[in-house]
Amino acid sequence: MALKQKSRILFLASGRGSNFEALARAIQSGAIRSAEAVALVSNRKEAPALDIARKLGVPTTVLDQTTFRGKSGKFDRESYSLALADTLTAYAPDWVCLAGYMLLLPPEIVHQWTSKIINIHPSLLPLFPGLRAQAQALKAGAKETGCTVHLVSEEMDAGPILEQSRLEIQPNDTEESLTQRLLPLEHQTYIKALDRVCNSGFQIVSGKVVWSSRN
Ligand code: GRF
Repeated sequence: MALKQKSRILFLASGRGSNFEALARAIQSGAIRSAEAVALVSNRKEAPALDIARKLGVPTTVLDQTTFRGKSGKFDRESYSLALADTLTAYAPDWVCLAGYMLLLPPEIVHQWTSKIINIHPSLLPLFPGLRAQAQALKAGAKETGCTVHLVSEEMDAGPILEQSRLEIQPNDTEESLTQRLLPLEHQTYIKALDRVCNSGFQIVSGKVVWSSRN
């Protein structure tokens, strides 16, 4: 029987990189089956995620956003987007995983990689999109929150849902405690979703993910 080709996973991260680390380790240990981590790309040259990648032997590319400046000295989103598009094309990933990537992807990239870009967000989407989702949940008096792994669409923190996990909010939770308690759940949920993505087919039907098989 022919061996299944491993799915090529490229990660985009801007910061700490704990989700990237959990996923890269799960790929290396085989907890995520039939996958290889082909690169970590970061828009910040000082992102701790880069050190984690070097430690794990995952190739890195830095597209330092501070070096993409137009004549006015402002961030030149267009040239940055072109460089990012070229980088993605060069690595030819099957899946692009956002792991704390803090820039909005340009629509051209989202279109080119439709249903191939995955993100994690620390709330039960569609509730509490955007920044500080844990603080939003506390402010709303929510009794539970969680995390969502979803396909990326043009709108921020939207797009078909691949996997969600729930977490009860405790009366004494603060933004910090909730963020800390959510993080291991994020890692587990992202690992589960990526393993499924790499090993089961899915279709998007009326904006929803419909899995075709379960391995
Ligand atoms: C996580 O909370 C993730 O849900 C959000 O950004 C944070 C990234 O954390 N999108 P880390 O860099 O993976 O540790």
